[in-house]
Amino acid sequence: MNLKAFVLGSLFLATASLQAQQTILPHLETNKQGQTQLIVDGEPFIMIGGELHNSSTGSAHYMAPIWKRMADQHLNTVIAPVSWELIEPIESQFDFTQLDNIVYGAREENLRVVLLWFGSWKNGMSMYVPAWVKRNQKRFPYACFNDGSKIEALSTLGHESVKADAKAFQAMMKHLKEIDSEKHTVIFVQIENEIGTLDQLSMYMRQPNRAMRDYSPMANKAFDGQVPSELLDYLSKNKERLHPAIANAWKAQGNKMKGKWEEVFGKGQPAVKRDYKSREEAELDTAWQTEYPWLTEEIFNAWNYATYVEQVARAGKEVYPIPFYVNAWIKQGFGYEPGMYPSGGPQAHLFDIWHAAAPSVDLLGPDLYATAIFDFTLKGYDQPGNPVLMPETRPTPDGAARAFYAFGNYNMLCYSPFGIDGNGYSLDPIPGDCSYAKSYEVLSHLLPAIAQYQGTDKMKGLYMEGIQAPAPVKMGKYTITMRRFNTQAAQALVGVAGSEQENAALPAGVLIIQTGDDEFLVAGGVGDCTISFRQGNPLKPQPGQKLSGILSVDEVTYDEQGNELLHRVNGDETAFGTCVIPSGQVKCFKVKMYEY
Ligand code: DGJ
Repeated sequence: MNLKAFVLGSLFLATASLQAQQTILPHLETNKQGQTQLIVDGEPFIMIGGELHNSSTGSAHYMAPIWKRMADQHLNTVIAPVSWELIEPIESQFDFTQLDNIVYGAREENLRVVLLWFGSWKNGMSMYVPAWVKRNQKRFPYACFNDGSKIEALSTLGHESVKADAKAFQAMMKHLKEIDSEKHTVIFVQIENEIGTLDQLSMYMRQPNRAMRDYSPMANKAFDGQVPSELLDYLSKNKERLHPAIANAWKAQGNKMKGKWEEVFGKGQPAVKRDYKSREEAELDTAWQTEYPWLTEEIFNAWNYATYVEQVARAGKEVYPIPFYVNAWIKQGFGYEPGMYPSGGPQAHLFDIWHAAAPSVDLLGPDLYATAIFDFTLKGYDQPGNPVLMPETRPTPDGAARAFYAFGNYNMLCYSPFGIDGNGYSLDPIPGDCSYAKSYEVLSHLLPAIAQYQGTDKMKGLYMEGIQAPAPVKMGKYTITMRRFNTQAAQALVGVAGSEQENAALPAGVLIIQTGDDEFLVAGGVGDCTISFRQGNPLKPQPGQKLSGILSVDEVTYDEQGNELLHRVNGDETAFGTCVIPSGQVKCFKVKMYEY
C-alpha cells in the first residue's frame, strides 16, 4: 500500500469510528468496578447540573440570556421542563417549539440537557395536562381522597389518560430523535415529576391525611381485587434482595402468591402520633425512618403509578431509546405518612415495586432539600445499578459545599440545585452568591477522576456546619480530619479559637481522592476548613510508631486551555501540616505525605 492510500485509509477509519461513536446514543453502562455510569459520546458523563424554575422554558426570549449564564457558571447540564400543555395544545396537533428552543439554546452553549416531561403529574397534581384533558373528566378521570372528593390529579387507572400521555410523549421523543440523535444535547429524560396522591391540606395545614392512595371508584375496585401476579412473581424471584419494608409486610401475611392487596401485604396502619414542634425536630428524630404507615395503600399506588409510567416510558423508548428516570418527593420526618408526601412515587423503600412494574425506567432519584436526612436519603438511593441522580437540591451555599461531600461519598450521576436560574423565589441563590459557580468550576476539571474512582473505596467526602468537626475518615493508612481553619490556625498560633460566629459562617465540604499510597487530591470549600492526613498522633507518639508529615502541597488551577497549573504552598498556607481552604473560597490541592 502506498503512503497516500495508507493515510486516506486511516483517515477514513478514524472518521468512521468517530461517527459510530457519535451515533451511539447516551446510555447506561456498568464498568469493571461494577459501577453503573452514563456514557455520552463514548465517555462516562457525570452531571454537574442545575434545574430551571418550572416556568423558565415558557419562552425563548426569557431563556435567551440564561443559557450563557448557565455555561458561565460551569454547569455541564441543565435540567429543563417541557410540558404536555404546550406540546399538544389541541389533541393530536403537536407543537415542538418549546423543545426546539431548549435543544438549540443549550447546544449553542455546549450544554447538555435533561428534559423534564411535565405530563400527567407534577408534584402530585395534573396542572400541566392540556386544557382538552382538564375539561374532559369523563374520559380522563380524576383521583379521589378517602372522603370521595376529587383530587386535582388524573387517576392512574384512566386508560385514556395513559394512552394520551404516552402518545404525546412518544411524539415528543420522535421529534427529539429528528433534531438530536447525532448531537446528543439531550442525555436523559425525567418522566413526570414527584408523582403520587398528595393531600396538600394535610401536609401544610396538619389536617387529617386523605390521600394515602387513590380512592376513586375505579381505584377502590382495584384495591379490592387481586394483586397482579407479575408483582408477586417479581417479589418471589427477588425474595433475598427485597427492601425490608416490603419483605416484612409480605412475610407477615405468609408470603402469599395470590390474594387481595390487604391479604398479601396486611391492613395499612396510620403513623404513630408524634407532636413535633418544628420541621427540624421531626427531621432529627430518626424513628420514622423505619416506620411504614399505610404501606399497603402505598404499594398499591406505587404499582399503579409505575405501571402508568411504564407505558409512557415504553412508548418513548420505542422511538428514541435514551435513558429515563423518575424522581421522588421523598418521605420526610415532617409528615411521613404517604399522602403527606406523594403516595406511590419512587421512594427508596418502594424500589422493588417500581422495578417490577417499570422496567423501561432506568433510574429512580430523590429530590432532597431536607439536610438532616441527606445521608439517610442518598444511602437509600445509591443502590447497585442505581447511581444517585438527584435532580433537585438546595441552591444555597450549603448545597454547593455539600456537592463535594456527595461526590466523595455517593456514586453521584447527577448533582443539581433547583431554581439555578433564579427569579426571586425564596430558595434562590443568595444575590451575588457564586458558591455553585466556583464549586462547579473546580468540579468540572475533576469529573474524569471522579468517574474513574466511583465504586472504589479511594474516594470520600467530608462536610461540616458550625464548629463541630465531622468524624474523621480512614483512607489507606491515613486518618483524615476536617476542622475549621479559624479554630485550628488560631489555636495553633495564639492559643485562642476563632469566635463561634466567625467559624460557623458558611458550611464547608470536601472531596478526597486517594491517588497513591501517600498521595491525595483534595477539593472543596465554600466555608473555611483545614484537612489533615495523619498516621499516629504527633501529640501522643507511641514508641516505635511512624508519624507522617507533608512532603508537598500544590494548589491546582487551570489555564484557559484547561492545562493544569501547580502552585507550591507551605508554611502559614499549610497551617502546620494541613490543606487550608479560607472562608468563601473553593480550592483544589495535590498532597504528598511522607513518614518520619
Ligand atoms: C419540587 C418540585 O419538583 C419542583 O418542580 C419545584 O416545584 C420545587 N419543589 C420548588 O421547591
